[in-house]
Parts: sequence; C-alpha cells; structure tokens
Amino acid sequence: MEQENVIIIGSGIAALQLAKNLRHDLNVIIITKSKLLSGNSNMAQGGIAAAIDALDSPKNHYEDTLEAGRYHNNAAVVEAITAAGPFLIRELMAQGCAFDHNSNGMLKLGLEGAHSKNRIVHSGGDATGKQVMNFLSYSLQKNIVIKENRLAYELLIDHQANRCYGVKVKRTDGGIETYMANHIVLATGGCGQLYSYTSNAASVCGDGIALAYQAGARLADMEFMQFHPTLLYINGRARGLVSEAVRGEGGKLVTENGFKIMEGVHPLKDLAPRHVVSQTIYSYLQQKQPIYLDISGVTRFAFRFPTIAQLCKDNGVDLKSKRIPVVPGSHFLMGGVCTDLYGRTNIKGLYAIGEVARTGVHGANRLASNSLLEGLFFGKQLAGYLNKQDACTAMMPPATTEIELYEDNVKLKLPTTCEIQKTMMDRVGIVREEADLLRQKEWLSNYNTEWSLSQLSIEQIQTIFMIITSKLITSAALLRTESRGGHYRTDYPAETKSWLAKTVIQTKKKDDI
Ligand code: SIN
Repeated sequence: MEQENVIIIGSGIAALQLAKNLRHDLNVIIITKSKLLSGNSNMAQGGIAAAIDALDSPKNHYEDTLEAGRYHNNAAVVEAITAAGPFLIRELMAQGCAFDHNSNGMLKLGLEGAHSKNRIVHSGGDATGKQVMNFLSYSLQKNIVIKENRLAYELLIDHQANRCYGVKVKRTDGGIETYMANHIVLATGGCGQLYSYTSNAASVCGDGIALAYQAGARLADMEFMQFHPTLLYINGRARGLVSEAVRGEGGKLVTENGFKIMEGVHPLKDLAPRHVVSQTIYSYLQQKQPIYLDISGVTRFAFRFPTIAQLCKDNGVDLKSKRIPVVPGSHFLMGGVCTDLYGRTNIKGLYAIGEVARTGVHGANRLASNSLLEGLFFGKQLAGYLNKQDACTAMMPPATTEIELYEDNVKLKLPTTCEIQKTMMDRVGIVREEADLLRQKEWLSNYNTEWSLSQLSIEQIQTIFMIITSKLITSAALLRTESRGGHYRTDYPAETKSWLAKTVIQTKKKDDI
C-alpha cells in the first residue's frame, strides 16, 4: 500500500515550489480543485519583488513592505523574506527559469506602487506567473503525484493529540476519497471570489480558510482584504487584471475629461499604496464618474504588456484610444491561517503556505509583487523543514486511499454565489461601516454551515466555504474599529496607535463568527 509522506492541497506557486524542493524519496500528492495550472499564480502579471539591483538593498525592500503594510507586519518575517529575495531569483535563473533582460544582459526591473526602487523581476513582459509556474511544473520529479478536479472538504484531526492526519476529498463525479499522511499542507490561495469584482481565478473561494477554521486552526487578520485598483471594467463587470506595472511605466488614472485623480491625494500619486488608489477610484465610481487608465505615456504598450493588450482586444477595448476603463476589485487576502517561519500552524502535521497563510509578512496591505516572492520563500522554507523530518514516521492509521460514492441530492437552504459576492462587495468591500457590517453578519447567520459535507455536492460545499470565510471577514472587520491598509471604515476613518499592536485572532473554539 502506498504511503504518502506529504499531501499538498492546492497547486499555486507555493505548492509547486514546496513540491520541487522536497526530498525525492518522499511520496507526495498534490490535490487540486481544478487543473494544475489554472489558479491565481498562473495569472500573475506584475512579477516578483526582489532587491537584486546594485542600487537597491533588502533593507529598502523591508522598509517599503512595512510602510505598505501600515506597520501591522511581523518585522522579523519581513526581514527574512526580503533578505532571501535576491537569492531566490538567482537560484531560479541558475536552474533555467527565464526572466526579462535588457540588451546589456541586465535584468529588467519594473516599478510598482509603494516601491521606492525599480525591483520587479518579470518574465514574458506581463506573463511572469505563467512562465514561473511552467518552469516549476516541469521541474517536478516522479515522486510527486498530481490529483486534479478534487475539492478537499474536511481535514482529519485527532483532537486529543492535536494532530492533522489526513483529508477527505470530493471528486467532480461525486466520489469521495480519503488520503492520509504525516504532513498536510494547505496551499489553497485566498478568497477573491467572495466579491463581485475580482482579479482572482474562478476556483479561489476561501476553501483553505474554511477548512482550517473548521479543523480548529488559528486565523488572524481576516479583515485585511486588498482591492487591486485596476481591473478591466466592461459593461458593469470586471474582466481581468490590468497590472500595476502599467502605472509603473507611466499610466495615469483619469476621469472622462482627463482629470488626473491621484494628483494631490498621495505623494506617490498613481503609484500610491493600493488601498489609497482603490479608495480614490471607488469614490469617483460612487458618483457615477467612470475612471480610465490613460496609457498615452506608456511606450510600446503591446510589446511590454502582451497579456493585457490581448485582454483589452478580447473585450473590445481599442488601445488606439489610449484609455482602459477600470474598476477596483478583490485581489489578495492579507490574513489567513496563522503560521510561523516554516509554515507550521497550531495543529501538528498541518501547515499553510502562500496566500492562505497569515505569516505576518503583508501586515494590513501587501506590497505589490510580494505574493509570488512569498510563495517561493515559504515553499522553500517548508521543504527545508520537512526534508529534515524522518520519512518513516508513519502515522496511525497507515496512509490509504478509499473511494466511496454518494448521491448529491441533499436539499438545503443556501444563497447563490452572486448573492454572496454582491453583498460582500456592497457591505464588506473597499469602504466599510458598522451598519453594513452588522447587516451582512445577520444575513450570513441565516445560513447554517454545520452540515455533514460528505453528502453534499461540490457546489454546495463551496458555497458553505464561501459563507464561513465571509463570516470570518465580516466579524473581523466589525472588531477592528480603526482604518488601516486594506480595511477602511467610514465610522473609524483614522489609523490609531491603540490598534497598532492588536491583531484579530479567530478560532472555532471561541465560536466568534
Ligand atoms: C499586478 O501586476 O498589478 C499585480 C501584482 C501583485 O498583485 O503583486
């Protein structure tokens, strides 16, 4: 019988970096909800932030990360990750991962919001995620087994020992599989799909957050959701990301009549931290004033940004007009499952890496292009830790795969995905206040989430996970009576000293949603 040593749930950059760096004598399974390369990492445009230039330093990168995070970050973690950035890039390059270089053979370094230096390493112009993910997936060895189209719906926990020993998984055909292993890693990404405007892939619904919460893991900072300022906006819908790197190359946010909306709002103008830019665009949209990204100052737009040029073309935006209509939308969850520098959670055998984790690196607002860096860093950190563990510490019971088939015919009262997305956007979105948060909390409380999930369809389970994650965000947003980074409340508009050191921590035991 096959013995799994490591189960990785999710298949983004953190998951693949972990898989690639694990010892080849370990049996590893990657369980992913859709296809291996169909998540957010693959869609990442901007690049990877790393202080690799001779005129830059990890200290500058560290300071920019803290400033963007509004000093809610864990400074030691920020120090470790910014120091590792140049090494991680050089290592990838040495292994054959291609990044964009100029004609002198130097890395091209882009600029993005809230960075004091050009330090965004990119690939294929604006296709960094795709290139790096292709590279990582080709590097995987035979010890890595990939199981696609499977939703992990329950972590198996020995509560007495406070240990995770497996996971239950639902296949798209309704079949149920149980996997057991010594080490279970959540690398499921964030929860952008809780909002009606989002840059995130369709599969990114907060599954890992809900799984961890139900299992008794500690979560923190769930109120901090980052809204990216510029998603392509056509006929009332967000159609995809327009990278911040466009503003780094001279793009300006303007009204219909050409007024530059970021003038006088922040010293960094269009390259101010994301929450500042998103809140500014939002205030114009609320007054029914459309906002555009003016690209007349960007040289060779289609060459530098081929992915965005194609996105615009596919959606009928004529780039000759030099204007791209934009809307802010959910992009990245700073909070998540609390972990240490090795991805360890408060439950033995359970780890979290990538966006699902709350490591403290991002604080209240993530600095642009620090997310791929986070995935690379923590994937490698956890691999280093697991590689030192004894491969023969088999758990009881031994690893196995069981298959059961259930009928997906349970009827239960659940909201539609659209209802969740619209209410979260309206009441727990870019701008929040107590009355809206309370309304949302009450609305969400109409829905019971304590079902035996084995009997439910993938769609029903996913909706329940969306409700659990929405409840966590809403409750945390109610508790934080100040504004900081991605969390802005009109009834508490100031960033306060009294909140600086406080963190909203949620666990199921406290029953606080
Ligand atoms: C972007 O390209 O604007 C997104 C990159 C990021 O979220 O860090």
